[in-house]
Amino acid sequence: MLQPDSGVDVRFVRSPANLRVTRPTLSLVPSAPQRGEASEKIRRFFAETPHDHPVLAMDLDIVDWNYLQLAWALPETAIYYAVKANPAREILMRLAALGSRFDVASRGEVELCLSCGIDASRLSFGNTIKKERDIAFAHAAGVSLFSVDADEELEKIARAAPGADVFVRILTKGEGAEWPLSRKFGCTPEMAEELLFRARELGLNPRGVSFHVGSQQADLSAWDAVLAEVAAMFERLDRKGIHLDLVNLGGGFPAKYRNDVRGAEAYGDAIRDALARRFGNREITTIAEPGRGLVGDAGVIRSEVVLVSRKDASEDVRWVFLDIGMFSGLAETMGEAIKYRLETSRDGESAETGRVVLAGPSCDSADVMYEHADYRLPVSLTAGDEVLILSTGAYTSTYSSVGFNGFPPLEMVCL
Ligand SMILES: Cc1ncc(COP(=O)(O)O)c(C=O)c1O
Repeated sequence: MLQPDSGVDVRFVRSPANLRVTRPTLSLVPSAPQRGEASEKIRRFFAETPHDHPVLAMDLDIVDWNYLQLAWALPETAIYYAVKANPAREILMRLAALGSRFDVASRGEVELCLSCGIDASRLSFGNTIKKERDIAFAHAAGVSLFSVDADEELEKIARAAPGADVFVRILTKGEGAEWPLSRKFGCTPEMAEELLFRARELGLNPRGVSFHVGSQQADLSAWDAVLAEVAAMFERLDRKGIHLDLVNLGGGFPAKYRNDVRGAEAYGDAIRDALARRFGNREITTIAEPGRGLVGDAGVIRSEVVLVSRKDASEDVRWVFLDIGMFSGLAETMGEAIKYRLETSRDGESAETGRVVLAGPSCDSADVMYEHADYRLPVSLTAGDEVLILSTGAYTSTYSSVGFNGFPPLEMVCL
């Protein structure tokens, strides 16, 4: 397992936003992975282990690496890994050992973390939509931090988790994100102010505000725009006697799909600059909830071509059907939003490639992953060939249906 230098501080720290903590040196063994490529470990596993169905292989060293990179890039910020991105026990335990905290979405994720030996004080219940009995369960287990974006949810928390810390999620536009999360979660800043007031009336502890700039966010300035609103809210509430101290920066840190993305350091710099600009000397606690950015590049799916066909003999475009699709783990190809990079066993054999439509194996016409995104694959590709789908460690294994059309759920192995 990779180890941080002794100087790396990945604890929950409270510090002035503009106190630019000097980044510690980070020496990691082995050397940095090639971002978005299949690692040697994954290639060896696939070479040595035949399967007759798709398999997701996760390289845990890359998860470690990504965590340490982000913790280094945001040294004043506590990292709460978003368990939903990939809830494999091996991943949770590796991250826990490095000092990570965890953003959980449900009672099931609370139980999972507890069963991995993670203390409840390291969990934040980040879903704004919770059953009251699940809030009660989490609170009784020791979870004390809850997210909210509605009055009724606050009342549930006040009854089921009296005295708990709460933060209110505000709406964002999600512009610049390949997988925006706008509308469903959050409320306007004005409503958030009312909720924070109401939280205090209900005996809760109004701690602050959270937001999510949209998943796979390519625009480094996305955080600054929202932080400007958050800082203004903090000031308005100060004048009304409510002193907030918590800013939850959410997720949004990218994996490397078809488009190039900036590294953790660039994100860290942009966010730290924005915090300094917007909050000045104010004492705040910042937390982040990365999911995709920690596990996306750590996984590769090996799949197999089931059929290559044409709909019209005169057409150039071939239809390539894989043994994995929209319902067996690749749900984020919906609307051709997330564009994975592909590698085939025919690459390099011939330079000639041609346009393809890429589809899954099920009898559902929605199971077409890429039709307009201009995917090109070798013209020699044929049934039985191997296709590696790169950077598929996030939001795949848990999106996979259980037996739709008789196909098994996506198998995952952690290496
Ligand atoms: C509350 C919350 N936090 C964090 C995340 C993780 O986001 P990402 O995978 O973009 O890092 C999500 C994603 O849905 C979320 O809903």
